[in-house]
Amino acid sequence: MSRDPIVARNLPALRETLNIFRAASETVALVPTMGALHEGHLGLVREARRRCKRVAVSIFVNPTQFAPHEDFDSYPRTWDTDLAKLAEENVDLIWNPGVKIMYPDGFASRITTEGPAIVDLEDRFRPHFFGGVATVVGKLFIQCRPDIAVFGEKDYQQLRVVTQMARDLDLGVDVVGLATVRESDGLAMSSRNVYLSREERAIAPVLHRTMQDVATQLRAGTELAMVLAPAAARITEAGFALDYFEARHAETLQPIKSLQDGPVRLLVAAKIGTTRLIDNIGV
Ligand code: PAF
Repeated sequence: MSRDPIVARNLPALRETLNIFRAASETVALVPTMGALHEGHLGLVREARRRCKRVAVSIFVNPTQFAPHEDFDSYPRTWDTDLAKLAEENVDLIWNPGVKIMYPDGFASRITTEGPAIVDLEDRFRPHFFGGVATVVGKLFIQCRPDIAVFGEKDYQQLRVVTQMARDLDLGVDVVGLATVRESDGLAMSSRNVYLSREERAIAPVLHRTMQDVATQLRAGTELAMVLAPAAARITEAGFALDYFEARHAETLQPIKSLQDGPVRLLVAAKIGTTRLIDNIGV
């Protein structure tokens, strides 16, 4: 049986509910989202439930992580179905602030990110992105003071940046990363998959298949230098405009020369039509 979560839309309402949880010495897990929830998000919610007594989900489409030419205005907003899904999962609290609550007039501070945020991957193509993510996630952590926060590995660089930020700023939040949830053909679940046309959707799993094949070749001993260029060519030939296909150290995200420099993560970003997809796997 599902029950409706408490919805907080301002800070006093958020604090009131969190104070009740804290007064009962209950642990709190936060799942930060921008809504448009799919099975991947619900997997994060279930993991949060396994680890903590109370589960809070934030739904906030964060304007500061979008560049002016990106999809902030058209980003899918599906409040009614999100609410129904979270009720089904027995989520305790939804934090759903408006833009003016998160960024009141005169807002003038921003968290600056280095380390895994400046490694020439997403940061090369979305230079504004990690500053916006770190600032909003930092605020969410301070507002909600969760014991843990659960993020998907699909946004792998984001996971590394947020983990680093929580550690560097002593935010007292244990950041937990969870494996990417995939469609049956391997496509990573993403709120942006709704943008894909039927033809683009049919091509999209090439990203995952290519990464899997590269991982298999590397594990079999093929040199890294021999596999990356053919993989990039395969993705381009399938119809993508490739931003990057890279093998990096899984924690620092620094370039590596061979599997021995690992643990290794393969990361890809590519556009099909107007939709930009990212994905990654461990080797
Ligand atoms: O991954 C997302 O959905 C967003 O980047 C996040 C972490 C909720 C911050 O806005």
